[in-house]
Amino acid sequence: MDARAAEDLNHASGQRAFRNALGQFPTGVCVVTARAAEGEDLGMTISSFNSLSLDPPLVLFSIDRRSHSLDKWEAAEGYAINILAESQKDVSGRFARPLGNKWTGIDFERGHADAPLLRGAIACFECGPFTSHDGGDHVLFIVRVVRFRTFANRSPLIFCKGHYGTLKPTGEPAPLWPLAIHY
Ligand SMILES: Cc1cc2nc3c(=O)[nH]c(=O)nc-3n(C[C@H](O)[C@H](O)[C@H](O)COP(=O)(O)O)c2cc1C
Repeated sequence: MDARAAEDLNHASGQRAFRNALGQFPTGVCVVTARAAEGEDLGMTISSFNSLSLDPPLVLFSIDRRSHSLDKWEAAEGYAINILAESQKDVSGRFARPLGNKWTGIDFERGHADAPLLRGAIACFECGPFTSHDGGDHVLFIVRVVRFRTFANRSPLIFCKGHYGTLKPTGEPAPLWPLAIHY
């Protein structure tokens, strides 16, 4: 593609091609959680997590405006971003379903602002609100990390081209980043 598919972005076929093109980019899989003001636990599978800033320590993710709980996500006093391990495909599937009881049988403890930290995750970032922005049909959440934990011996679940996968390390280290030339 295809200048033509790009021109068609507003049509269903163009949007499908756009989504497929975006899906060429592999990501990890996270479950973002929060304890809503009403005491309800929120949880959603996301791949839109990314690092943003070291100082202050900020990360970001985006939530679809069609999410039934968008207002509760926006009002939450804290969030936990749980990076899933390769063994947690079922957890990803569970939290990618709308409504219903996502939490039955899920093992967790509570972190900052009582947000659930999922057992078995390879890293958990406990965050407070920082700011949010209009992201078109999504809302972009920028959150401030107050604490984190990692489990270096666990491997991440990967999502690419609409399928789950696992990492196949090449054993070749990437250059040290940031490089001196960046500053
Ligand atoms: C691998 C994967 C990644 C996803 N990433 C996002 C995301 O970044 N943002 C989003 O709003 N939905 C994302 N979704 C879809 C939500 O998990 C799904 O719509 C879920 O039902 C939302 O929960 P809710 O209906 O309770 O709001 C993703 C789903 C999967 C399987």
